[in-house]
Amino acid sequence: TMTISLLWGIVVAVCCCLWLILGIRRRQMGEPPLENGLIPYLGCALQFGANPLEFLRANQRKHGHVFTCKLMGKYVHFITNPLSYHKVLCHGKHFDWRKFHFNTSAKVFGHRSVDPGDGHTTENINKTFIKTLQGDALNALAEAMMENLLLVLRPSVLPKPKMAGWVKEGMYSFCYRVMFEAGYLTLFGKDLTRQDSQRALMLSNLDNFKQFDKIFPALAAGLPIRMFKSAHRAREKLAEGLRHENLRRRDGVSDLVSLRMLLNDQLSTFDDTEKAKTHLVLLWASQANTIPATFWSLFQTIRSPEAMKAATEEVNRTLENAGQKIIPEGSPICLNQMQLNDMPVLDSIIKESLRLSSASLSIRAAKEDFTLHIQDGSFNIRKDDFIAFYPQLIHLDPGIYPDPLTFKYDRYLDENGKAKTNFYCNGLKLNYYYMPFGSGATICPGRLFAVHEIKQFLVLMLSYFELELVERHVKCPPLDQSRAGLGILPPLNDVEFKYKFKY
Ligand code: HEM
Repeated sequence: TMTISLLWGIVVAVCCCLWLILGIRRRQMGEPPLENGLIPYLGCALQFGANPLEFLRANQRKHGHVFTCKLMGKYVHFITNPLSYHKVLCHGKHFDWRKFHFNTSAKVFGHRSVDPGDGHTTENINKTFIKTLQGDALNALAEAMMENLLLVLRPSVLPKPKMAGWVKEGMYSFCYRVMFEAGYLTLFGKDLTRQDSQRALMLSNLDNFKQFDKIFPALAAGLPIRMFKSAHRAREKLAEGLRHENLRRRDGVSDLVSLRMLLNDQLSTFDDTEKAKTHLVLLWASQANTIPATFWSLFQTIRSPEAMKAATEEVNRTLENAGQKIIPEGSPICLNQMQLNDMPVLDSIIKESLRLSSASLSIRAAKEDFTLHIQDGSFNIRKDDFIAFYPQLIHLDPGIYPDPLTFKYDRYLDENGKAKTNFYCNGLKLNYYYMPFGSGATICPGRLFAVHEIKQFLVLMLSYFELELVERHVKCPPLDQSRAGLGILPPLNDVEFKYKFKY
């Protein structure tokens, strides 16, 4: 038996070696330079995961603007020259834009595919998003959001004598709870039948969301949710609250969610749990990036006296022009789309905050073998490979943004105080210089609403409260790189601040 075991051992070892040798892709004529990495299957995933920006910069130095990396068994072609982005997006017919999103979503949230091609639904979900998150739909969303922000911000500060003084809190946890609650109520409405238990329900939603979101990077990387018992339970609880029978009890449900419920019922074969999970996707998409984006916008504003001054002036001017007065217990202030859109200083502050904190990865799948013709040359791409942008390379490029790690509140303002749109790379004007919301067909459908939400939050914070950092010269917290690739990175540690009702 010894010799049989030995023989088996040798056979297995030879097979492994063959698999390793044959499984390694070889670069063929016309293909981009290839990094297979040292580890089978994983390829370069560990180095990429440890620090995507450094890893990609090193490969850029070694190979130039276009190169291929093996990541988790897949071959990903990185296009790093912003001047080539437009050309890449012109190859749309060769890409499956959503395959990667749909697969990731199904894996992370636990529903069957929402890709109409897979036959479980005929809803074009992206069309639903665009119809209900853009254009006129924004007015109703903005109105509801303002009301809900006030609902969350005011009770704790209404003139109970205790609340007349300073309140100290971590700024990130403050932004987290305020934006989560206001955003949740804006999309999914309020349960009027159970008003007394609303707070407790919201706190448990908030806690469950935090638990689930914490393991999101692991799930996106392919680990099964079964490995994370409490986070798994948290996800199911969140989805429970979004079942149609529960949503039907709520008042002021957004057009977006009402339409998604209708189409879910009419066009899909999903069961009730899966329908709820497709709403959970929306909850996550609407919160996971907005919360850290709100934090960075508030933090950078408070930290920079010039930003604070310019922002406060703009907020006061806007409220005055809109004929709105802050009356502590009076009707909520109201700014329409046009007024919100006409705040270039806040726009610039938000853009600059997102430029510094965004680390999204844009991925599209190749539907077939084809040749990619771009600024940097022509490259053969194989079917089922991926094409990727990592916009942080652009956002932190000193050639495009001088002194790229410094927050400059007016970086996106021109000499007339309007939105600046001229950015250059080697003397050539760029069309793609700011991409925290992605690009092309998969660009975030909620981006306009997201900016409105953050602006509304800043308007209220700057007009209702006095704000101070507890430690006046606090260091900027580092970015939590464990979430690189997913969007806006949260701070690695929280920052204490104080707020006090002005009136
Ligand atoms: C600062 C806040 C936000 C940022 C930075 C952000 C960023 C992104 C990014 C990078 C994508 C993927 C784009 C791509 O793959 O090319 C995305 C997708 C998406 N976002 Fe946002 N987002 C934000 C807020 C929101 C909000 C508030 C909503 C909804 C109310 C929303 C809804 C969505 C949806 C539904 C998708 C998926 C689209 C699809 O796969 O077709 N986002 N977002």
